[in-house]
Amino acid sequence: MSVDQNPTAPRPPSSRSTTASASVIPDFDPVPPGRPRRRYAVVGTGHRAGLYIEALRGEHADVGQIVAWCDPNPGRIDYYDEQDGLPRFRPDQLEEMVARCRVDVVIVTTPDLHHAEMVDRALRAGADVVVEKPLTIDAPGCRRITRAVRETGRDVVMTFNYRYAPRNSSLREVIAAGLVGEVTSVHFEWALDTVHGADYFRRWHRDKANSGGLLVHKSSHHFDLVNWWLNDVPERVFALGGLRFYGDGAAAQRGLGDRPERGTGTPGDPFSLDLRDDPRLKALYLDAEHHDGYRRDLDPFAPGVSIEDNLSLLVEYAGGAALTYSLNAHSPWEGYRVTVNGTAGRAELEVIERSFVELDVNGRVVLDPSATPGATADDGLRPQRDRLVVQRHWERPQEYAIPDGIGGHGGGDAILLKDVFRRDLRRGSDPRARAAGCLDGVRAVAVGIAANRSLQTRLPVDVTDLELGVDLV
Ligand SMILES: NC(=O)c1ccc[n+]([C@@H]2O[C@H](COP(=O)([O-])OP(=O)(O)OC[C@H]3O[C@@H](n4cnc5c(N)ncnc54)[C@H](O)[C@@H]3O)[C@@H](O)[C@H]2O)c1
Repeated sequence: MSVDQNPTAPRPPSSRSTTASASVIPDFDPVPPGRPRRRYAVVGTGHRAGLYIEALRGEHADVGQIVAWCDPNPGRIDYYDEQDGLPRFRPDQLEEMVARCRVDVVIVTTPDLHHAEMVDRALRAGADVVVEKPLTIDAPGCRRITRAVRETGRDVVMTFNYRYAPRNSSLREVIAAGLVGEVTSVHFEWALDTVHGADYFRRWHRDKANSGGLLVHKSSHHFDLVNWWLNDVPERVFALGGLRFYGDGAAAQRGLGDRPERGTGTPGDPFSLDLRDDPRLKALYLDAEHHDGYRRDLDPFAPGVSIEDNLSLLVEYAGGAALTYSLNAHSPWEGYRVTVNGTAGRAELEVIERSFVELDVNGRVVLDPSATPGATADDGLRPQRDRLVVQRHWERPQEYAIPDGIGGHGGGDAILLKDVFRRDLRRGSDPRARAAGCLDGVRAVAVGIAANRSLQTRLPVDVTDLELGVDLV
């Protein structure tokens, strides 16, 4: 399995293709002869860092090289540094790392709560930044990052890979071409299943102080998509939600009984993840536990969950469109549905990433049914597919063809990497405007931060009242 996706995430056909349609691949100039490679440091050498490390050691090795690691856990650095013996630094040594290793760009792949500090310090130390989503988890984090960008004039690239999934780019094309007219409302439903959804309740994400909850950690992807599809910015947000399924309280209420503290060593339980079953998970987390005590496989019903698993939002956009959004993290299938209503008709995107969760004879989840001979990755009623249907007033529905992408996250990851590492070699601008920066990052987390406040106050929240440090328009 490739490193680009969490092993609990579904791998539908859209995430398995190895070649992409030329229409979704940006055009780049060749590297000018003799041009030095950009020097990258990876800050946070966990799971997601692997995507960037693999890219810089492989396809993009001609334009960039990794020159340093930064992580408090030496075990996870060891996993990536097997051959290279590169200099390694603790988080408190970030400035020293940038100076000593002449770092041009810092890649920030730490847990979300550290993004603001690491981005701010990297910019002020003299490096540009590539940061994973979410940009940060709260309003002070937005203020800290936007101030650092203003004061240093340096560059922050947000890696919104979902924009690069061809199905999502296609919906943008449909809207931009005016096929549905002026957008009046969007209905967006995201379902995470009991494998991938449960995973947020096992890891550091389960504590809202680390991740901002799913509204920030996960939904910032989705809110970025809506902002980008509509080319608009959110103004007002109202949210309802809570922890209804995972966590010890909900489990006790449903009479779930005694649960194991962690998944490793728990046979026959569909909510347990045994880190020993995946060599990469074992090396990155189980074998590195003794350094920092972090357990990546907590039971999703163990005490300490402070994030929500059922969320419903109303969002008003500056241009007048309304978004209704919902996220459920314990669905029996995984995927999403988006409906865009416009003055000329409607577009409907349906994505089924995993049609059901399959258990083996021992009651354990089959993580990648497509890899098991004879197994059924699909269900006849709910086939794994991406389907975009456009229907204009007084016309029959038409299926809008979705081109192939490459690799994880709906075929988006590998195309994103080209744009991250070869941006300055791009030939012409991207008609899909997929590249994202700091302002896009703030616009995306603005919805989740406002929604988190709304959950507390039970009132609608104006995004301007959050004082995010920058005008969103
Ligand atoms: N775009 C996507 O689809 C996608 C997918 C997965 C993860 N992510 C994002 O990537 C980031 C990392 O997630 P992950 O799944 O790799 O988590 P992880 O827990 O596997 O890795 C995080 C790493 O950061 C290290 N770390 C902790 N504090 C640090 C600090 N102050 N400085 C440097 N390193 C520190 C940890 O020791 C760990 O090695 C998150 O922000 C997450 O939202 C994005």
